[in-house]
Amino acid sequence: MKLFVDSGNVADIAGLVPLGIIDGVTTNPSLLAKAGGDSRAILKEICQTVQGPVSAEVVATDVNGMIQEGRELAGIDEHIVVKVPFGKPGVQACGKLADEGIRVNVTLVFSSTQALLAAKVGATFVSPFVGRLDDVATSGMELISQIVDIYDNYEFSTEVLVASIRGPLHIVEAGRLGADVCTCPPAVIEALFRHPLTDIGLAKFLADWEKAQGAKG
Ligand code: G3P
Repeated sequence: MKLFVDSGNVADIAGLVPLGIIDGVTTNPSLLAKAGGDSRAILKEICQTVQGPVSAEVVATDVNGMIQEGRELAGIDEHIVVKVPFGKPGVQACGKLADEGIRVNVTLVFSSTQALLAAKVGATFVSPFVGRLDDVATSGMELISQIVDIYDNYEFSTEVLVASIRGPLHIVEAGRLGADVCTCPPAVIEALFRHPLTDIGLAKFLADWEKAQGAKG
């Protein structure tokens, strides 16, 4: 499974990259607004920090605007994947950009039929938002299961990018279902490193070692 960082914060991303577990980055207008500054410069810096796909979302809402903005975003760096929101304009723009060889991530996906349409127009990634579905008492992971099944049945090459992840259990379930990518806020990736039994075990190993050294001396 690929692990992406869901963030527009270059420092947070740069702190995780040396671990060797980060395969890409996703951003969205909210995350880039939070980061502040010149969003295109930030996207370029992210692309130089991570050697993998970096999703950058259009804010245009009409087909031609999305295509134009998508081409501009793709021109920032070869790692850019253009993110378009699901809908008629997004689906149409995705098809056109994909025909031009630009990789597209169709975002704001909340149903398997939306994911089916995204795959049909050549999306490289589809982004179902599991946390936001859970928030409204609908199983985000059931949606992932449906999309994985449908894509497998028809051998679509679109990758299932699980988004709106809120904690490690979402990653466990996504992995069991065979989702291609999980994009996670930095705090969730940090949480994957923590386990109290690992900490207790290490403290005991080191204490036993020190005791033995003392006994020898
Ligand atoms: O990038 C899209 C997505 O991951 C948003 O997550 O937590 O705002 O629902 P969230």
